[in-house]
Amino acid sequence: MAESYFPPRRVLMGPGPSDVPPRVLAAMAQPTVGHLDPSFVGLMDAIQELLRATFRTTNRLTLPVSGPGSAGMEACLVNLVEPGDTVVVCVNGVFGGRMKAIVERCGATAVTVEDAWGDPVDPAKVERALEEHPEASLVAFVHAETSTGARSDAAAVVELAHRHGCLAVVDTVTSLGGIPVEVDGWGIDATYSGSQKCLSCVPGLSPVTFGPRAVQRIERRKMPVQSWFLDMSLVMGYWGSQQRRTYHHTAPVNALYALHEALVMLHEEGLEKAWARHRRNHLALCAGLEAMGLELPVAPEHRLPELNVVAVPAGVDEAAVRRRLLEDFSLEIGAGLGEGAGRMWRIGLMGASCTPRHVLLCLTALETVLADMGAVIRRGAAAAAARAVLEG
Ligand SMILES: Cc1ncc(COP(=O)(O)O)c(C=O)c1O
Repeated sequence: MAESYFPPRRVLMGPGPSDVPPRVLAAMAQPTVGHLDPSFVGLMDAIQELLRATFRTTNRLTLPVSGPGSAGMEACLVNLVEPGDTVVVCVNGVFGGRMKAIVERCGATAVTVEDAWGDPVDPAKVERALEEHPEASLVAFVHAETSTGARSDAAAVVELAHRHGCLAVVDTVTSLGGIPVEVDGWGIDATYSGSQKCLSCVPGLSPVTFGPRAVQRIERRKMPVQSWFLDMSLVMGYWGSQQRRTYHHTAPVNALYALHEALVMLHEEGLEKAWARHRRNHLALCAGLEAMGLELPVAPEHRLPELNVVAVPAGVDEAAVRRRLLEDFSLEIGAGLGEGAGRMWRIGLMGASCTPRHVLLCLTALETVLADMGAVIRRGAAAAAARAVLEG
């Protein structure tokens, strides 16, 4: 006999999803209406307005793609890349590598600009690649590399792209809501994010926005977009005009209630205050981890507040530590990804999972488990170091 599923209550401090506030979960449990119901159409307008405010843009083509961050990545690239194009793709972690794979599946040539694990994208290398490839039409890069915890200078890379006649596609999956993302201020042509990170919504939606140059590029395409589902010219029939919304696909109505509530909560707090909260808790967590004697491999000036990479101490079984954290404290932290697998942990401080309570729980739990496992750490200093930052 099949049985109902009741998930455990976790504290989510991995690379996403982050904790989803009860208000957001409650919004999701409201009655389902039709995706063309007049009431729902009003909600769609409200979501688009809130997304524009979050991305800091006036772009009309701003909407949540019905799919996770990878769907947003694919939506931006398949609409803006055509077979035969040359695209400069910056790879400084797993997600830059995924952008490259999509560009190549579009039939384009990817010119990669590589940076070491944990380093930001180097604008000087991007400039060199653009000089060597005057035929390039697009630059694609990740603002906040979740696999390494490094933040790149998005404004500088976008500016370079424009100076060389290229559009700029930026991955803001882990940045949106946690650190500044200025779509109009930096001139980003297209960007995608994810619902499950600093927005603290349920997973499965990808906010995207396309600026005027990107819309023009889509309108002037020689070939139709190879993905029917993600073709923005078709999706716009549903999301594009407030007066007339026509069926494209059945929108994930209840997940959109959740996104709306998560965005309302973000703007109740205020974007700048949310960024400051991420920074404060990050500094407290780092102070605690360092007081414990743990190593943070990303240089302080490039660290992402919302994703903290920690080196696993010598001789420690990293998977066993995560298992104990989950079993004894119901606390999830992330494993290393790509080059960091087996050597690093990734501790998320994203959205609702970014509070002093999360910082202190994580430090205390990690210290307890590491000490039990015989790791060489300094005991009794971490929580005090974090509190000194939080109270300072
Ligand atoms: C920077 C970045 N880009 C893209 C993705 C893909 O998002 P999703 O897993 O929601 O498809 C992730 C997911 O962790 C990410 O961190």
